[in-house]
Amino acid sequence: MNDEFLKSLESLNPAQSAAVFHDLGPLLIVAGAGTGKTKVITSRILNLINTEKAKPSEILALTFTEKAAKEMVERVDMYMPLSHDEVWIKTFHGFAEKILREQAAVLGLKSDYKVHAKLDQWIFFKKHLFEFELNHFLPLSTPNIHIDKLLEHFGRMRRNIFRLRNISRMQRRILSL
Ligand SMILES: Nc1ncnc2c1ncn2[C@@H]1O[C@H](COP(=O)(O)OP(=O)(O)OP(=O)(O)O)[C@@H](O)[C@H]1O
Ligand SMILES: [Mg+2]
Repeated sequence: MNDEFLKSLESLNPAQSAAVFHDLGPLLIVAGAGTGKTKVITSRILNLINTEKAKPSEILALTFTEKAAKEMVERVDMYMPLSHDEVWIKTFHGFAEKILREQAAVLGLKSDYKVHAKLDQWIFFKKHLFEFELNHFLPLSTPNIHIDKLLEHFGRMRRNIFRLRNISRMQRRILSL
C-alpha cells in the first residue's frame, strides 16, 4: 500500500470518511447513483488491510453485477497490485460458483460440472424438451413458446429455495392448468 492510497483517503468527504473508518459492527450505506459508494467500499477494504484489521483473505465483497465486481477489483488492484486476488470480490453468482467448484467432491458433484448461463439453459431445455413429461406446456405446433416461461419458473423456485414438498404442490398446480 502506498502514499497514493493515504492521499486518496484525504479526498473523502465527512460521510464517506465515517463509513470508511467505521469500526465494529455492521454498517448500512444508502446513497444515490454516482455519489461514491464504490469508492467508500474499496477504500474501506484497503484501509482494513492497511491497518491490519483484516487479512486480504478474510475479506469478502459481493456485488449484483459483473460490471460492479470488475470495477471494485480494478480499484483495489490500483493500490495493492500483488495481493488483490486474495480478496474475494465477486458477484453473488460468482461467489456461489466458486464455493460449488471448490466443494464439488463433498457435494457429490463431478468437478467438471457446468453452470448454464441463460442462453445455454435455453439450448439445453430445447434439446431435452421432449424428455420432460409436459402436457399443458407442450403445444406441438410451437414447442418453443413456453421455454422462457418455464425457465423463469425454475429460476423463481431456485431463488426462493422452495422445500421439496412446496415444489411438488406448486408444480401440480401449474402443470394441471
Ligand atoms: N469524495 C470524493 N471526492 C472526489 N471524487 C470522488 C469522491 N467520491 C467519489 N468520487 C468520484 O466520483 C465518481 C463516482 O464514484 P463511485 O464510482 O465510487 O460512485 P458510485 O456511487 O459507486 O457510483 P454508481 O452508482 O455508478 O455505482 C468516481 O470517479 C469517484 O472517483
Ligand atoms: Mg458503484
